[in-house]
Amino acid sequence: MWLPRGCTSKNIVTSFGRRVFQSYFRVLGQWRRNVATFMPEAAGFEGVSDCSSLQEFSVSNSESFWAAAARERLSWIRPFHTVQDCDLSRGKIKWFEGGQLNVSVNCLDRHVHTCPERVALIWERDEPGSEVKVTYRQLLEMTCRLGNLLRRRGVKRGDCVTIYMPPCPLAVASMLACARIGAAHNVVFAGFSAEALAERIRDAQSSTVITVNQGVRGGKVTELKRTVDTAVQSCPTVQQVFVAMRTENPVAMTARDVDMEEEMLKEDVVCEPAAMNSEDVLFLLYTSGSTGKPKGLVHTQAGYLLYAALTHRYVFSYHDGDVFGCVADIGWITGHSYSVYGPLANGGTTVLFESTPIYPDPGRYWEMVQRLKINQFYGAPTAIRLLLKYGDQWVHKYDRSTLKTLGSVGEPINTEAWEWYHRVVGDGRCPVVDTWWQTETGGICITPRPSDPDAEIVPGMAMRPFFGIKPVLMDTEGKVLTSNDTSGALCLAQPWPGMARTIHNHHQRFIETYCQPHPGYFFTGDGAYRSKEGYYQITGRLDDVINVSGHRIGTAEIEDVVNQCSGVAESAVIGYSHDIKGQGVYTFVVLKKDVDDQEADLSRQLNNMVSKKIAKYACPDFIQFVQRLPKTRSGKIMRRVLRKVVERDLSGLGDLSTLDDPAAVEEIIQGHRELC
Ligand code: PRX
Repeated sequence: MWLPRGCTSKNIVTSFGRRVFQSYFRVLGQWRRNVATFMPEAAGFEGVSDCSSLQEFSVSNSESFWAAAARERLSWIRPFHTVQDCDLSRGKIKWFEGGQLNVSVNCLDRHVHTCPERVALIWERDEPGSEVKVTYRQLLEMTCRLGNLLRRRGVKRGDCVTIYMPPCPLAVASMLACARIGAAHNVVFAGFSAEALAERIRDAQSSTVITVNQGVRGGKVTELKRTVDTAVQSCPTVQQVFVAMRTENPVAMTARDVDMEEEMLKEDVVCEPAAMNSEDVLFLLYTSGSTGKPKGLVHTQAGYLLYAALTHRYVFSYHDGDVFGCVADIGWITGHSYSVYGPLANGGTTVLFESTPIYPDPGRYWEMVQRLKINQFYGAPTAIRLLLKYGDQWVHKYDRSTLKTLGSVGEPINTEAWEWYHRVVGDGRCPVVDTWWQTETGGICITPRPSDPDAEIVPGMAMRPFFGIKPVLMDTEGKVLTSNDTSGALCLAQPWPGMARTIHNHHQRFIETYCQPHPGYFFTGDGAYRSKEGYYQITGRLDDVINVSGHRIGTAEIEDVVNQCSGVAESAVIGYSHDIKGQGVYTFVVLKKDVDDQEADLSRQLNNMVSKKIAKYACPDFIQFVQRLPKTRSGKIMRRVLRKVVERDLSGLGDLSTLDDPAAVEEIIQGHRELC
């Protein structure tokens, strides 16, 4: 893969490396004495003396807080005149209107002015020890060449470019090149199938797709360009496909394809940044909802970048010179906010992880921590649970003394995994921050930090709202629960700059999903418990969305695919508790009357279809063939009953009097026993 000259692991010096530890503890020590040392913009806030008063100030004086942060943290081409213009009940969300800026300038140029040779990206390639470091100067050069190329090939401000690439410097440069010329990007996780990719390209109406010839992950090669070829056959809008070379293996190129690296070399290294309005679209990112169709959430320029930058710095105590290791794929919001935008806006050094937690062995993460001297490690509970099972020796083998903060994201982290992460990985000395947030929120909203460094952290709890965030719990009647030691639907009572603005082309769906369930509040779709002390713990989704290995998927999306199988009459998909994945996929299938295929063949067929139409991670773990599904008299499938059967909580089946045919439940219980 083409990289500017000098991108090797040998000749790049991280500018601040050695001073990391001293500065970290110095800053923590000063925190109690002087809040302005901690957050410069807080110096002018009246009555703010410590972290909890700063949090209170940020909520009750939201405009002053965010205005000061936006002025301090972002470089503006034109200052904003209005801090916010929001009305959650109508789904109207606008921040920093009147302002103009360029996100790529904020992530690159301003750091190139002060520290051009600082490492921006460490590309941790699949083979351990083959990492590539890219400085801010080099990343700016890549971005500018690519920005010029996109412009020359007709990509205009307001267009949406689809990026189907694994984590690599050219993927980041592609995102930033879009931002530079004012195009939006739509990164699609490179594990998605051709059909899932095509659906997202069509919805985003992209005319340009950027990809690589092949992906390499866990020692296996995947044919990404071939997947794009299949996808674009059903995408009439696509006019050109830019192809970069991740491996040496040539791929068939058509008239539509452009050799991206060859063309980039013809371009100038200077690219005029577009002056973007705060509320212009920065990117779309598709995520699952409770209905079949994934939704393209829209994030805009200034508010998103500010929120990603502020949370990155304060949730993880990121300081200049630290090496930040977020192992999420760039195809998810975690990769967007904490591998790319947050760290780069802060002038940080960020790791792009191409591999898996167990390649070539279960010591991969910790060997990488040792080799790259990672200071903050941010990963998913599913990987922690998996590694825990392999035993402590894989962790102890490597030096982890550089680690300062450990983060967890994407799903609830159970106490056993939390304790292991803290005690074994972090040697009991690194705070573990369980971070709750969503594609919709743009950045972390509930997390134990920032707070007084001595404040307690409760295992498995996200605990405290971030600056500017006001969580509330609602009861089933839609009333705000004011007491503690209570559970309810988690809503956010105030807008914040990082939140999604709409669903691409479906503003009404945005309003119905997030704004109407509890008018005046942003409804998250999650349930939460608030402890006696007022700390939050996320209890899981309240809708039909499940979380498989940290990947969010609507049960309706899987059912849609299963129901397309010719022998299937109907189906019901539910999530069940899974040791490693957090939740697994359990599918009940009713076959059509005349089907005489073997169940094993049908199961194979169904798995293939889900993998082909969505992605491998969505494949059912169990398929139970049943005569009928338990339904209410009005014909609604009683998922509550199915869940209880799969959880083996037969005493909790509850009121079955509304069932149309109670015998269906007996059959299902019997079938479940035989299957598991
Ligand atoms: O249910 C919550 C769960 O993941 C959902 C968001 O998924 P997604 O948009 O893919 O973003 C994942 C990365 C931010 C949430 O609605 N979730 C996320 N973080 C946590 C969590 N559940 C429990 N604890 C968390 N820390």
